[in-house]
Amino acid sequence: MKVLQLHRVTIAALLLMGQAAFAQQKLPQLGQAPVSEIVKQMTLEEKASLIAGTGMRFGGHGPVVGEADGRVPGAAGNTMSLTRFGIPGTVLSDGPAGVRIDPFRGGDSTKSFYATAWPVGTLLASSWDTSLVKKVGVGFGNEIREYGVDVILAPGMNIQRNPLNGRNFEYFSEDPYVTGFMAAAIVNGIQSNGVGTSIKHFAANNQESNRNSVSAIISERALREIYLRGFEIAVRHAQPYTVMSSYNKINGTYTSESNDLLTKILRDDWGFKGMVMTDWFGGHDPVAQMKAGNNLLEPGTPKQQQAIIDAVKNGTLDVKVLDQNVERVLLYILKTPSFRKYQYSDKPDLKAHAALSREAAAQGMVLLKNENAALPLSKGQKVALFGVGSYKPVIGGTGSGAVVVAYKAALEEGLSQMGYTPDGSLKTLYTAQISADLKAHPEKNMVLGSPHLVPEPDLNADAINAAANQDDIAIFTIRRNAGEGADRKVADFNLSDVETTQIKAVADAFHAKGKKLVVVLNIGGVIETASWRDIPDAILLAWQPGLEAGNAIADVLSGSVDPSGKLAQSFPVKYEDVPSAKYFPGTPADHPTEVVYQEGIYVGYRYYNTFGVKTAYPFGYGLSYTKFAYSGLTLSAASFHNKLEATVTITNTGSVAGKEVVQLYLKASRGGLDKPSEELKGFAKTRLLKPGEAQTLTLTLTERDLTSFNTDASAWIADAGKYEVKIGASSEDIKLAKSFTLAKTMTVEKVHKALAPQVAIDELKSK
Ligand code: BGC
Repeated sequence: MKVLQLHRVTIAALLLMGQAAFAQQKLPQLGQAPVSEIVKQMTLEEKASLIAGTGMRFGGHGPVVGEADGRVPGAAGNTMSLTRFGIPGTVLSDGPAGVRIDPFRGGDSTKSFYATAWPVGTLLASSWDTSLVKKVGVGFGNEIREYGVDVILAPGMNIQRNPLNGRNFEYFSEDPYVTGFMAAAIVNGIQSNGVGTSIKHFAANNQESNRNSVSAIISERALREIYLRGFEIAVRHAQPYTVMSSYNKINGTYTSESNDLLTKILRDDWGFKGMVMTDWFGGHDPVAQMKAGNNLLEPGTPKQQQAIIDAVKNGTLDVKVLDQNVERVLLYILKTPSFRKYQYSDKPDLKAHAALSREAAAQGMVLLKNENAALPLSKGQKVALFGVGSYKPVIGGTGSGAVVVAYKAALEEGLSQMGYTPDGSLKTLYTAQISADLKAHPEKNMVLGSPHLVPEPDLNADAINAAANQDDIAIFTIRRNAGEGADRKVADFNLSDVETTQIKAVADAFHAKGKKLVVVLNIGGVIETASWRDIPDAILLAWQPGLEAGNAIADVLSGSVDPSGKLAQSFPVKYEDVPSAKYFPGTPADHPTEVVYQEGIYVGYRYYNTFGVKTAYPFGYGLSYTKFAYSGLTLSAASFHNKLEATVTITNTGSVAGKEVVQLYLKASRGGLDKPSEELKGFAKTRLLKPGEAQTLTLTLTERDLTSFNTDASAWIADAGKYEVKIGASSEDIKLAKSFTLAKTMTVEKVHKALAPQVAIDELKSK
């Protein structure tokens, strides 16, 4: 009897298992059934698990939910797997300058997972070379894929509204046109590998001071023309897999809870097809986030999932809204390497990527000054290297934008390898200082805000004089570093007394011997230059160049690469000249809850040029070791129909090969609106031109390029009248100009009324 009973139980169990297997077989599978069919079969709990990530492994922000995140240690986040529907988990990793993952796993020191640190976004933009940036993206994307990552949380593309923003190094420019096309280029490059990007931080995350809840009060016009325009270009020209909403509020609403921003503007106006995720622990109300169209909550917490479940049960969240968010997550997963079961190697070609990183770094460095041909260095010179940065470069900023690398090439090594002789006594002095300081301040992989920098050692007159006697030339590297979590201070914008005194002392000693001083700026954001730039003979802005820093700087200093970078942001004479200086970072200053963008559309050169405020170095500026002539500007028509082409010829009139960045600024017909004196509407870089060689470039203006955002009409409108095309070597160095007319006012694009401020903003006007 007992035996029989057991037998019956076994048979029943087998039957049940059979049914389960049958049911399982019949469940729609991702990739085979439409996502809507899959969502129909999900439990509420499963849906809630998909719209929140699996939690975060470290950081103490909260518990890890669901599956363990073991696959790519150090990655910032994951999405949940649901095996019964064939839905794999996916991996999201920082960041804009390289794959930010743990270099070692599980105590095994024999196998490393170091990544390439690419030059920071600001440097890439200074190349003004979208094909180069796309090429970087192709290499970067390969590394992302080969390390098993599905989406890189990059590029960062907020507008550099104020030089003190601690994260400016991650961003491209003060100008939305440059920002948008640089972002599109890198997204297209990365995504050509079948991996995704997350353009961030959408939008108006232009400061780190109280970034988690500050409300940015911005007019609709400034939003559309300045703060959203770059994202619009990137979405339209590259369709990133994902967009990351920002931490801050815009006009009182968290961006991740704003239906205006994430649905009306992003999807309806711009046609975004991908998925939106929050920034890490961003926003406040998961139900509002679902309603806004913020499809995925990262890194995800059980509390958020429970809130969603409760809201559906109590009727405050329509399950259809939840379903739509789940569908977006599934459509994203369908595009990932994890879904394709891609067998990643964990062995990207780090050598090839380092070479590409070096190439890009050299192309984005900006020669700010070069008196009496101080540069390039003559072959085999003895160089006196001053400044800690000559021995210990800052390859990128801090926070999630930092990359853990196997090495950081120093300028001292770069120059030695190219046949120069760095001064041995100075090397001893600086390396002793660095190793002593490192003992007291060991380096960490994760640092927020401005990190500790090894202080400059004392330089006594004897040391400087000895170098001036025996070396041929002096190079002084100035460093800055900042990042996520904190803004810079005005003291960081200015040089310190020690820095100015030391530069002056070195310059005096070398000049007394008829020798020169070059200053290298190894910085992530704009600094003050006007008060000291007369001291050195040359200044090279090297930015934060990635892991090949010193080699790339040596490439430019030696002349093996002609400097061809130009500024994608203005360098003001003093901090107070910055149009947002009075309003940054908002009120109250120590923990701003609100920041009013009173400068309106007058950000960067739009302000300096329209209001006639002199800069130290203008937007678009940069020197070369050669010279270029601009000639033959022609416009394809005298009046505008659909589009207009401007053609210009650039000739290398100097004695070495070089590339020139050509900029097209448009002065628009004023109509009823206040308009900047010029706005960038096109740019191109020549190929490497030999001395005497010329290239003709064509820049195209579209209907949209003629428009301004008309708030009353919620439309992009081009006003009838005269338009002036200015072709410049910088925003202040206009070489050629011609005008055309627009016969009739055109409404080029009507958009949603969205994100209107709730208060009146006393915005800056030019007249
Ligand atoms: C940063 C994001 C980053 C995320 C994940 C956030 O604190 O703002 O840029 O991608 O963390 O690490």
